[in-house]
Amino acid sequence: MSEFTFTDYYHNQVTYSFKDHPYSSEPKHVWVICRLDEKWLLTEHSRRGIEFPGGKVEEGETAEDAAVREVYEETGGVVRNLRYVGQYRVEGKGGTIIKNVYYADIERLVDKNDYMETRGPVLLKHLPKELHLNERFSFMMKDQVLPYSLEYLNQSK
Ligand code: GTP
Repeated sequence: MSEFTFTDYYHNQVTYSFKDHPYSSEPKHVWVICRLDEKWLLTEHSRRGIEFPGGKVEEGETAEDAAVREVYEETGGVVRNLRYVGQYRVEGKGGTIIKNVYYADIERLVDKNDYMETRGPVLLKHLPKELHLNERFSFMMKDQVLPYSLEYLNQSK
């Protein structure tokens, strides 16, 4: 099966697919699962908590550009390789958002003074098991997008 539907942390409906851009060829949001030296590279958002980096695609940028930029802005990570994983759609109260998920291999971390709205890089050897109960983690890490993505990446190694 290549499409999954579930509800997120806020009870919004999410549909996730591993097909090539099934919901929009120009999604406005990106999310990047990052690996650096056998560790996961995440960021600590000042409001939401720990999450993989990501954000909005800016005017004149492609989604891939945005993925590379957001990783750098929020973690200082320099992307060596970016791979499209899938795309999801969230039906929220304020409308629908469509987000591309990528997997990035990170070459190195640049030490910066400013990590935008985040506190900068967080490196983890393992993602905690009961992540959805962990207050330090962002809501974005607490629905089925993350486990489905990790399973997909594991299978397609
Ligand atoms: P800013 O404009 O960046 O301040 O944030 P915003 O929360 O107003 O905007 P955004 O368009 O990023 O998100 C709008 C809503 O969509 C959020 O409040 C969430 O409910 C939902 N949303 C955004 N990203 C995700 C995601 O990755 N997963 C899930 N499940 N919901 C998301």
